[in-house]
Amino acid sequence: MKKRIAIFASGSGSNAQKIMEHFKYSSLAEVALVLSNNPDAYVVQRADNFEIPSHIFDKRTFYESEEIIDLLKRLEIDIVVLAGFLWLVPQNLLKSFPNKIINIHPSLLPKYGGKGMYGDKVHKAALQAGDQEHGITIHFVNENFDEGEVIHQAKFKIESNDTLETIKFKGQQLEHQYFPRVIENLLKKYN
Ligand code: GRF
Repeated sequence: MKKRIAIFASGSGSNAQKIMEHFKYSSLAEVALVLSNNPDAYVVQRADNFEIPSHIFDKRTFYESEEIIDLLKRLEIDIVVLAGFLWLVPQNLLKSFPNKIINIHPSLLPKYGGKGMYGDKVHKAALQAGDQEHGITIHFVNENFDEGEVIHQAKFKIESNDTLETIKFKGQQLEHQYFPRVIENLLKKYN
């Protein structure tokens, strides 16, 4: 049976798009569900385009019920992928999917992670610090923002003529390149 992926995303979902593309014709795995806290998130449209079901939930459901866990269990989800999902994952969800929840972050963690560190803020911090290199991190999720064990990092050099826009773009290219592959490699290790 194919492994089943659930993607949580709050925004545009360009990473979700790459993952859906990657597994569209895969015999190993499929994206079974896209979940979002934001009904207007473009990721919902992207899921529709792939004819992948989506599920919208609110804060209360996420933090004060077992609804999302029940849904993921019912759909026999093997791996939970956070791709631009901005809420902290609650304990009960972490416990239900031990070492099966992963996240992507647009910096070389532990640099520029933690609450409130997302989007442009991350890249601005790297530029302001005068860093010579920047990159992305794919990691397991724990009860703190951007802190679980690192699975994969990829980096690039920051050149003197780089700007916020160019380093953002370079990081995004790396995310799109590596995230689907890292998911695939993890799933290959599951029985
Ligand atoms: C990515 O930069 C990812 O690292 C971060 O959120 C962003 C999501 O972008 N967690 P997108 O919605 O996949 O385009």
